[in-house]
Amino acid sequence: MLFRDKHPVPGHVMITGASSGLGAALAEYYAERGSHLSLSGRSKARLDGVAQSCRNKGADVRATPLDICSREDCEDWVRQADDWKPLELMIANAGISAGTGNGGETEEQTHQILETNCRGLVNSVMPALERMKSRGKGQIALMSSLAAFRGFPGAPAYCGSKAMVRIWGEALRGELAPQGLAVNVICPGYVRTPMTDVNDFPMPFLMSAEKAAGIIARGLAGNRARIAFPFPTYFAAWMLGVLPVGLTDSLLARLPRKA
Ligand SMILES: NC(=O)c1ccc[n+]([C@@H]2O[C@H](COP(=O)([O-])OP(=O)(O)OC[C@H]3O[C@@H](n4cnc5c(N)ncnc54)[C@H](OP(=O)(O)O)[C@@H]3O)[C@@H](O)[C@H]2O)c1
Repeated sequence: MLFRDKHPVPGHVMITGASSGLGAALAEYYAERGSHLSLSGRSKARLDGVAQSCRNKGADVRATPLDICSREDCEDWVRQADDWKPLELMIANAGISAGTGNGGETEEQTHQILETNCRGLVNSVMPALERMKSRGKGQIALMSSLAAFRGFPGAPAYCGSKAMVRIWGEALRGELAPQGLAVNVICPGYVRTPMTDVNDFPMPFLMSAEKAAGIIARGLAGNRARIAFPFPTYFAAWMLGVLPVGLTDSLLARLPRKA
């Protein structure tokens, strides 16, 4: 039984954004433990590389290049994956940040971030939810961020998108628990991936994607509502969220921005 075992390993794990960074590290983590994997990302070449590495660890892997902004493609992918083997864990991980621009987000980037991180995430989650609901079991993990606790100047759309994911996930968790489904919200601090490689400012408590994947997977195995880490950055983000904005505005205005 998925949530009662001490170290449960889901039989079939689906991961969006598996072609890189955290998604790739999570795929490798579950591959080493014998899960079947359904992986997606936009770059076929990088996705195939991750899939091959997981197969080398003994995992049965299906890799499907797709853009989560296409609702239809997400529905097809989830249907085919679930027909192959019933989904036990879906990790909605794919996401983008601006990463370019003059220390902020352009109008175009704002649209892209909200389209991908909010609508795209919903596109990938809803078909999986429907399948899991029909069986009365399953687990959905949503990739938010510590940026979800307070809006940071320089990344308004990114912070807003991750706040949406966090709040949506927390509400879904309560709604779906009586139907036998688990929903978990993941809020990492700085993790070394291509997304953060472009940052030229100090990133406190930066950790490797492999270490982050282990923390996330153990949190999921324990069905934790919120998997937020590392603790010092989580505490700082949480404090910034609860303090009066009048106090924190001037502090945040001095923070370095993504260049
Ligand atoms: N790194 C951090 O410090 C950090 C902290 C908190 C939260 N997060 C979150 O963790 C998640 C993974 O980020 P990462 O750091 O691992 O960055 P990353 O290495 O850039 O990986 C992002 C992944 O998302 C995929 N993706 C982006 N847009 C997509 C789309 N429209 N359709 C399908 N796949 C798409 C990318 O696929 P392609 O590359 O193939 O396009 C890639 O596999 C994101 O949601 C991010 O916001 C990261």
